[in-house]
Amino acid sequence: MKRIGVLTSGGDAPGMNTAVRAVVRTALHHGLETYGVHEGYAGLLAGKCYELKARDVGDILHRGGTFLQTARCAEMHTDAGLRIAVERISESRLDGVVVIGGDGSLAGAYALHSLGVPTVGIPASIDNDIWGTNMSIGVDTALNTIMETVDKLRDTASSHQRAFLIETMGRNCGYLALMAGVVCGAEFSLIPEVDVTLEEVADAVAAAYARGKSHSMILVAEGASLDIREVARYLDERELGYESRITILGHVQRGGTPTAFDRLLATRLGVAAVDALVAGDTGIMTALTGREISRVPLEQTVAQHRAANLMFHDMTKMLAR
Ligand code: F6P
Repeated sequence: MKRIGVLTSGGDAPGMNTAVRAVVRTALHHGLETYGVHEGYAGLLAGKCYELKARDVGDILHRGGTFLQTARCAEMHTDAGLRIAVERISESRLDGVVVIGGDGSLAGAYALHSLGVPTVGIPASIDNDIWGTNMSIGVDTALNTIMETVDKLRDTASSHQRAFLIETMGRNCGYLALMAGVVCGAEFSLIPEVDVTLEEVADAVAAAYARGKSHSMILVAEGASLDIREVARYLDERELGYESRITILGHVQRGGTPTAFDRLLATRLGVAAVDALVAGDTGIMTALTGREISRVPLEQTVAQHRAANLMFHDMTKMLAR
């Protein structure tokens, strides 16, 4: 192995830059050249592949986003797209590829591996929906951003005796809303994994008012079965004591400087990815298992989704007294 490629793909996540830095410098340590593929798989298909030296990844460890840039690439889901990707990898004389991204990106990594390209994946997505790792890069930073914002919203909620409905990202996964519910002391978290009725939400809010709480905070995952506007309307119709307000957090959750946790995780996963490539252990994702970094077959990762730990759902309700 002489030359490897690295790309970031799908939604950006804080800590992706930290992982790229770790990949490039670990490769140098092993005497390998690294080429950065710009704009994810779309850039790979377009041949946007440039050498990265140690200085090229200086001063990026603490920056959010991805300096390699990223894209969502539908073509990689087609046989024709995959064929072009393999051709470009061969034209660039890459002996292996490190793919940093979420579940769709890792599915692309597995497809490349199945076509004979030595490939290693690194889980990076604020959603924390990737099977086989306790945490993906970017999750901790996103959760901290949510927590800081909900704390601010609580100040104004208490001042006006309001119920705030706060929508988090996460696609079909409730992790961010679930954990934000715990760390922000919410009344309730509405997540895709648990079906609840409007009445149940309203009853929880009514109970909070009856207990004399000055605010009621409800986290709503974007994939939850109840629509946030519908919930707000229903709460107001029931006249529970609080007026409702809605805050959609949106893409603010994807930005910002990575936390120490994410920097450490991204660094460890990046180093481990290159170590695996050099050892010839490919078709795997580097992962956090307990407190250790492990190698998980991509075949297993792409076949499943990380399940929510519903114990935290009950915990939020139990502590909202
Ligand atoms: O997968 C990360 C994520 O931020 C999801 O939580 C969200 O549903 C989606 O990406 C938004 O994608 P885009 O930035 O393409 O609108």
